[in-house]
Amino acid sequence: MNKLKFIAQIVFFALFLVNNFFISLAVAESTDLVAKGRDIFVNETFAGNGRTCSTCHRLDNNHTIDPKYIATLPDSDPLFVAENNPALAELEKPQLLRQFGLILANLDGFDKPGVLRGVPHLFALKTSMTPEAEFEGTQVKHALGWSADGSPDDGSLRQFTVGAITQHFPKTLNRKSGVDFRLPTNEELDALEAYMLSLGRSEELDLDSMFFSSPIVQKGRELFHSKEKGTGQCKGCHLNAGANSSSSLQNGNRDTGVENMPNNLLKLVWKPTPIDGGFGQEEKTECGFSKKETCYGNREFNMTTLVEAADTAPFFHNNSVNTIEEAVAFYNSNAFHQSAGANPADPKDPKSVCERCIHLEPTQVTAIALFLRTLNAMENIRSSNQLEQALEDLSKIDRQEQIRLAMAETLDAIEVLEGGSIIPNPKSVKLLHEALKIEKKALNSRYKMDALTIISEAINLKKLANDLLLAPTKN
Ligand code: HEC
Ligand code: HEC
Repeated sequence: MNKLKFIAQIVFFALFLVNNFFISLAVAESTDLVAKGRDIFVNETFAGNGRTCSTCHRLDNNHTIDPKYIATLPDSDPLFVAENNPALAELEKPQLLRQFGLILANLDGFDKPGVLRGVPHLFALKTSMTPEAEFEGTQVKHALGWSADGSPDDGSLRQFTVGAITQHFPKTLNRKSGVDFRLPTNEELDALEAYMLSLGRSEELDLDSMFFSSPIVQKGRELFHSKEKGTGQCKGCHLNAGANSSSSLQNGNRDTGVENMPNNLLKLVWKPTPIDGGFGQEEKTECGFSKKETCYGNREFNMTTLVEAADTAPFFHNNSVNTIEEAVAFYNSNAFHQSAGANPADPKDPKSVCERCIHLEPTQVTAIALFLRTLNAMENIRSSNQLEQALEDLSKIDRQEQIRLAMAETLDAIEVLEGGSIIPNPKSVKLLHEALKIEKKALNSRYKMDALTIISEAINLKKLANDLLLAPTKN
């Protein structure tokens, strides 16, 4: 009996070891795939015009690019191929690229004028691309890009790469695969998908059970995460400050009227800038502020995550707004009140009763923006610490690269908390400054043990900075 039990235990233990062995193999394999994907994302030109994915989705800039970053690049950077290669002169609109960070994208087909769009960060895709039922019967498998229809073929994240190469990588505008670029292999597509899915948060926050130490930020959360009239009513389309509807719990498209703001800044710079019709390719003739322009699409754009927003200015699909405060205040505007997203009783009369004629006083705008800044800083801290907790097995060069990326996140946290002028949590900002100084020391330290010891101090300071932003219950 005892012997049998002993044998059973041995067999059980052996099975346990074998099982663990396979689990760790699988984990190692998926980490390898992510590393391979990152290498392709950063270095692979797909035999095209010299651009790579990271030409626009910069790793040290939240996987996006903006006018401030662009201003630091040499004219020889492949981002500017349209300025340097006559065969690609029509690939971009250089003034809009340099002043607004906008990229030309032929979402309505290569025979139509392209629309001009900002580069989205690639964070938290796991939480933000499951499409609502309204997309059934369309090609949208994953809701991607500013109007959800950014991916060709089956509309999946995996196929997005094929569309991005055809759009951004060609040597000439004939865009012939095999001549102007090469298509990715299946292995490359798998690796890029794994890499992109590894970026940022993989889970939604639970805002209703989060409390903030600053009464301003707490008020911002209450105004934001509600559907009651008299509040910001943001929850309906940004559940938990993510990209999902609070009714469908999925990622949908809405018409919020961003294209209908007066004095379109893009057109002031380049008059022929086309109006962006959002989802689909159907021709419409009553587009823009004048209601007289042609555009292609149903005017709907994809709901975006907001946890990651504050450090990725400018805002909206056409980068038309400078600050997070202005993006919040947009919901006070006629452009929004007259859009389908506000549910107006009479779309032609901005004063008519509408379900979401949101009105926020400047103090309330400020409170919501400070709340979004705080969420963003917390995510920066999480991400910075995650990078620094994974330094152990890296070579010196890789370790330094990873510390640099972590420092970019720490710096974002500081900038986002300071950028509002009012600083509700000054102690957190001070701790983050200290952490950044320590990270600089770790970056320059020659020995791994030293670097790891120093970095653990920075990790602790950031954790403390994070904890000071929160309160256990409502204060
Ligand atoms: C020239 C700049 C540029 C390059 C290079 C580029 N992208 Fe993009 N990317 C954009 C723009 C602009 C959008 C928004 C497109 C839209 O609205 O449909 C975008 C959107 C995306 C999205 C959707 C993100 C979301 O949140 O919905 C993914 C995924 C993506 N790109 C992946 C890639 C990959 C992979 C590569 C390399 C093969 C790449 N990009 C190369 C500019 C670029
Ligand atoms: C009817 C749905 C809806 C409501 C309500 C709504 N949003 Fe949005 N939000 C969107 C959509 C759709 C976009 C993308 C619009 C675009 O780019 O044209 C967006 C984009 C944004 C952006 C820009 C994100 C970026 O990265 O550029 C911010 C900031 C934002 N919303 C904040 C808010 C706040 C704050 C509220 C409440 C006052 C709110 N939203 C209410 C649907 C909504």
